[in-house]
Order: sequence, then C-alpha cells, then structure tokens
Amino acid sequence: MIYLDCAATSLQKPRAVAQAVTHAMQTMSSPGRGAYPAAMLASDTVYSCREALAELLHVPEPESIVFTMNATHALNIAIGSLVRPGDRVVVSGYEHNAVMRPLYLRGARITVAQSPLFSPAEAVEAFRRALPGAQAAVCTHVSNVFGYVLPIGRISTLCRKFGVPLIVDASQSAGVLPVNFAESGAAFMAMPGHKGLLGPQGTGVLLCAEPGEPLLAGGTGSLSEQEQMPEWLPDRHEAGTHNTAGIAGLLEGVRYLNRRGVERVAAQERRLLRQLTSALEGTPGLELFVSPDAQLQTGVLSLRSAGHDCERVAQALGEAGIAVRAGLHCAPLAHRSAHTLETGTVRLSVSPFNRPDEIGTAAACLKEILKNL
Ligand code: ALA
Repeated sequence: MIYLDCAATSLQKPRAVAQAVTHAMQTMSSPGRGAYPAAMLASDTVYSCREALAELLHVPEPESIVFTMNATHALNIAIGSLVRPGDRVVVSGYEHNAVMRPLYLRGARITVAQSPLFSPAEAVEAFRRALPGAQAAVCTHVSNVFGYVLPIGRISTLCRKFGVPLIVDASQSAGVLPVNFAESGAAFMAMPGHKGLLGPQGTGVLLCAEPGEPLLAGGTGSLSEQEQMPEWLPDRHEAGTHNTAGIAGLLEGVRYLNRRGVERVAAQERRLLRQLTSALEGTPGLELFVSPDAQLQTGVLSLRSAGHDCERVAQALGEAGIAVRAGLHCAPLAHRSAHTLETGTVRLSVSPFNRPDEIGTAAACLKEILKNL
C-alpha cells in the first residue's frame, strides 16, 4: 500500500512508538496513583512526554500540557471553558466539525470570518471586521482539506488587540510546522497525538494558558478529599486513568520530531507536494487546489476531476493500493469556502515517511484511473 492519508492519521510511525506502547503495557501501571516501581515508571513516562511536548511546541510549563483522548476532546474542553450559550464566537472559514459542532452544541452565535482559499491577507481582514464585541475566537492553523496555512500569528495579534481569547486548532500543524505556543498568545491550543506528532490513536493534547473549566470530573490521584476538581493543571482536566501506553508511544513520536527537527519535516513534505502537483499538472479536466506561495501549504493536496465522482476516484485508488480520503473530510465549512461543497474533493496527504517513488506511482495511477473511469 502507498499511504497518502496522513492528514487523517499517521499510519507510518517511528518503530520506537509501537515498541514503547508494548513496553508500557507490560511494565507500567497508573501514573500518580502509587509509589511502587510500576506506578513511578508510569508517572515518569507521562511527565517525560509533557517535557518533550514542551520542547517541541515551546510551552513554558510542562504542567500546562493536558493529555486528552484526541483533538476533538481537547477542543471540547477549550470551547467549554470559554464559550457560554449566546456568546458570539468568530471562526475562520476553514474549521473542522470538531470545532463547529461543539460551538453549535453550546448555543454559540457563530460569525464566520470568511475569506478565499490561500488568501491570508483577506483572512486577516475578515477577522479584523468580525472580532470587535466577540467573546471568543477559534481558528485552525492549517486546513485539514487543503493544507492551507492560515496567518495564525496575525490573527492572534488581532485577538489580543480586541481582547478576544483565541483557541487554536493545531490538528494539522503540530509536528508538521514549527509551532510556538508561548508566542502564539492563544488561550488554548488543541491537537491530536496520532497525526503529525506520530503517536498512537487515542492520544490528544491541550495546551493551556489558563486553567479553564473541566469537561469531565473524577479521580485525579490528588486532593481526593475535595468535592471539586483541582484548580491546577494538568489535574484539572485529567480525570480518570491515563492512556499510559498511548502516551508512552506519543513520547517516542515527539522525541523523533525533536531529534529530526520540524523544519526538516515541513521542507520534506513540501518537496513531496511539489513533486505530486508537477506530475499531475496539465491532466485534462483535473482541478488541483495548490497555493501559488509554497509556504502557505503543507503536504496536503485536494483535487477533483470534471465528470468524476470523488468517492469513486478514491475507491479506484484504494483498489490500486493507494490510500487517500475523499468527500467533505468532516469540514463542510472549508469546502463551502473553497466552493467545493457540491462535489467534495479527493485528498492526498503525505508524511515524512513517504518516498518520492511512491508519489510518482500514485500520480501515474491517478492519471490512468481518470482516463479509464
Ligand atoms: N480530521 C481528519 C481528517 O481530516 C480525520 O481526515
């Protein structure tokens, strides 16, 4: 199989990730719940993962890094902390349902700061118009559909200027692009552990600049006599037994990235994207969603072909051994913004584990499929 669905989850990981999961299952009990060796090893491993993430994402206090089960869970904590029913919340036009559905669930009044694809200046202007008087803002760093890198730094500066707390959805940027939480000015930043961070599924991370409100209540191994969840981080948001094995695997994924350097990962993914787009350009009827400025796109390429159903194309690619995702990618808002809501797109997304020969094979196969379907 040629795996080009890395925006969904990174199937290929450093070997140490799975080894660490197995090792943790065989040697670790529950972190923060005992002073015997298996519990201490679990505590040390979980803390090491916070430290590795703090180094990668520039988080001043490892304790302000909360482990969740995925990015959706992390976003629900962040949104539940900042948004009350009836609050006006500004979002970009490229948000995933992991942002939109929690906002609808909480009865937020949503203002979409609408802007065209790959137009960061217009995105900034749209936020400048929408922010005054809003109670919160949520912005994805990178679109899961188009790999579009939004101008999160400038949007964050505007949020600070207007006194609007910002939640950043870093689901497609953590481990893929340099991310600096300390400089971002965000109140919260959410991400999965299983995509760019190369950890196992069932892991997620929330970076907190403030304590926030718990989504779940339960045992934390701390202040057990107290009726309420602890005020401090990370205990405030970590009720129940941790996914210790998952976090042990995530630690190895993050260590790999810290060793290799995210800048190199980003450059490699962009090279692969360039190879893919050059191979596909000029194919009759094929529409490629590519930024004229390479810095505005990660290794995610959406495309569609006149007269071809996207799901059918993805199915044919799958039958040929090439794994991609088609449809709306749980992000109808992004498709509306890019005028692809009616058709959806076929999405090919790379990781540092893809080789140039795989990209060449996939491009040739896609052209063949489009000719014969
Ligand atoms: N949000 C993930 C994707 O884009 C699952 O495929």
